[in-house]
Amino acid sequence: MFTITTDPEVYGPREDTFLLLDALVDEELSGRALEIGVGTGVITLNLAHRFQEMVGVDIDPRAVALAEYNAEENGVTNVQFHCSDLFSSVSGAFDVIIFNPPYCPSDELSIQDFSCDGGPDGRNTIDAFLSQFNGFLSPEGRVYLLQSSLSNLAQTRTYLEARKFDCTILVRTRLFFEELVVFRIQHSKSEIQLSESKRRNCMTRREEIVQLLQDAEMTSLELAHHFKIPKKTVLSDLQHISRSLRNRNGDLTVKMPVCNHCGFTFKLTVIKEPSKCPNCNSEWIDPPTYRVVP
Ligand SMILES: C[S@@+](CC[C@H](N)C(=O)[O-])C[C@H]1O[C@@H](n2cnc3c(N)ncnc32)[C@H](O)[C@@H]1O
Repeated sequence: MFTITTDPEVYGPREDTFLLLDALVDEELSGRALEIGVGTGVITLNLAHRFQEMVGVDIDPRAVALAEYNAEENGVTNVQFHCSDLFSSVSGAFDVIIFNPPYCPSDELSIQDFSCDGGPDGRNTIDAFLSQFNGFLSPEGRVYLLQSSLSNLAQTRTYLEARKFDCTILVRTRLFFEELVVFRIQHSKSEIQLSESKRRNCMTRREEIVQLLQDAEMTSLELAHHFKIPKKTVLSDLQHISRSLRNRNGDLTVKMPVCNHCGFTFKLTVIKEPSKCPNCNSEWIDPPTYRVVP
């Protein structure tokens, strides 16, 4: 339980804040997170223990100072707060991005109150956020965006779906004259698979072997089946990979072949695959397996 100090000049915790926190209770959260528009810092401080690192920003320096004060008072240390107009002073990629934006439509042409005022249709900040977040979201990252029916929920969904994002409403609640919802936004699964296969298509076969052996140890026969090439070609690729990794401080490690008949373990210094045991002449040999380590 946190003690949150408020300030009449900074947006204090209320229904939308708590709806966003409720929406995240059952979500799997980890890694690096960003909250835009922290206000008192209440959302960031409540979620910080679920991430390795959290960054919180606000356009209002007074909000940033208050969030910093609240972090210190509550002993939360894995958060950093600073001033930023949306992503203008943010760098790197985030696994989770959270935003409870100003979304109230107002008659004024210029924004008067950064905490609530969303411009004539309530969408000024929301639209700016939607056009920028993708540059800061990790490939499998998620955005949690609170929005009100006052600022056109359908427009947000249409915008995102046209750009191949999955957009789900996690929670919704009706207040007097509006409905509040929390959207969960992520790259659509088919887009993630497509970009993975595009990446693989751009790789040479040797690069792809390195990638496979970073993920799991494999025999030369398994690699030969995977690429539909002769085992001899795989062994020549492995020799090449072994030499080139040494120049880049990596290593191709080999689990040595073992004779299944007498238990003799080979001690090979080059990439080759023995066909007979020198000890008992058996040809029943467990083949070597290969792995790439950084
Ligand atoms: C609705 S309040 C939310 C505050 C807090 N996250 C909460 O839920 O209680 C919106 C916050 O966004 C900040 N904000 C408005 N426009 C911003 C922008 N362009 N960049 C960063 N923060 C902004 C405001 O100063 C305000 O603190």
